[in-house]
Formats: sequence, C-alpha cells, structure tokens
Amino acid sequence: MLVSIPGALGAPQLQALRERLAQAGDAWVDGRVSAGYQGAPVKFNQQIDERTEVAAECQRIVLGALERNPLFISAVLPNEVYPPMFNRYAEGMTFGAHVDGSVRIHPHTGRKLRTDVSATLFLSDPADYDGGELQVQDPFGTHSVKLAAGDMVVYPATSVHQVTPITRGERLACFFWVQSLVRDDGQRTLLFDLDTAIQRLNQTSADDSARRTLVGCYHNLMRQWSDT
Ligand code: NI
Repeated sequence: MLVSIPGALGAPQLQALRERLAQAGDAWVDGRVSAGYQGAPVKFNQQIDERTEVAAECQRIVLGALERNPLFISAVLPNEVYPPMFNRYAEGMTFGAHVDGSVRIHPHTGRKLRTDVSATLFLSDPADYDGGELQVQDPFGTHSVKLAAGDMVVYPATSVHQVTPITRGERLACFFWVQSLVRDDGQRTLLFDLDTAIQRLNQTSADDSARRTLVGCYHNLMRQWSDT
C-alpha cells in the first residue's frame, strides 16, 4: 500500500529544515556511507552524516511533526521509527533500482529495527527541479511519486524503487524507515481501510452499536496481528 500524506510538515518546520540543511556544510557526505552491497553501486547522492548535531536538530523537527499526524499513524502503525535521514540530489545524481535493507541498527540505541515501511518526505518545491521522481514498483505496476514540499509518501519497504536522475536543479528530501506494529503489508492495508471507514462513519449519525462493533473488530484484529 502506497499512501500520500499531504502537509506532513507545516511551512514553519519546512523553512527551519531548509535553513539548517543549507548551512550544513561538511555534514553533507557521500550517500554510499549507509548503502548495502546492492545499493552502493547504484546510489549517487549526498546525505547528512547521522552523527552530527544538524542531523539531530532536523530529526527532532520531523519526529515532532509525525507524532501528531493521524494519517501517518493510521497508515503505518509505527512501533519504532528509525531516526530520519536527509539527502540531496544535485543535477545528474540518481539512485537506481534497489530494495531497502531489511534490518538496520538504530544509531542511538544499537537495537535492531526491522524495516517494514519506507518513507520519503519531500523538502523541495517540485518546480525547482526536473527528474528526481521516486518510482515504486508493486504488483499493479510502477508508481511515480513527486510531491509538493512538506508532503510525504509511505510504501512497503519490500518494494523495488528508484529515484530517477535529476536533470535540473536540486532535490532535497528526508527519508526513513519504520518498524510497524503489523509486519505484513496486506494486514496493515486492511486495518488502514477499516480505520478510515470508521473515522468517516464517526462523522455521521450512523448506528452507534454497529460502529462500536467495527471498532471492536479493528482492535481485535490489531491484537491478533501486532507484535511489540
Ligand atoms: Ni531506498
């Protein structure tokens, strides 16, 4: 399931992030430092060194916005969020087709985190660059994603995906992974659909007892499918 989350970042947070990233200087390093054996040969971009203060400041801004976002929570069912990372593609840069690594070591706690969901938060205005589309493959085809600054997309980390070459301008983005309470994408999709329908019914005067039953189904499915 690929879900767009409009306005994941508000204008003030977006501005704050852009200012910090513009002044990050030599905290920008070759993106291959975090790539595995499959990703490294096709990854041509830059990213902020995870160990720097600017990374920590930017992570706080993004995580602060996400913990208040009901659509993100409903679609992803986060258990643990990998500290967000930040990348930059200048003209000619690209990230070829790959699948994200399945397990990452959390840089602060040292714990292993299973990557169930991949997330990209767009930080550049799409008018400011050409190319740089995130293309995600699923059984129904290839989905090209290029969203407004501040919008985010989440998709199963099992997907083959790529970032097409930048032919003009510069593309800034934030990316990260989430270990979900529900490992399986099909189960997460069912829970998301059910939750979305319940939220809509809650805006109506629909039968109270029927809505209560549906909410019960939601939680009882979560109890069966979640791991913590
Ligand atoms: Ni990737």
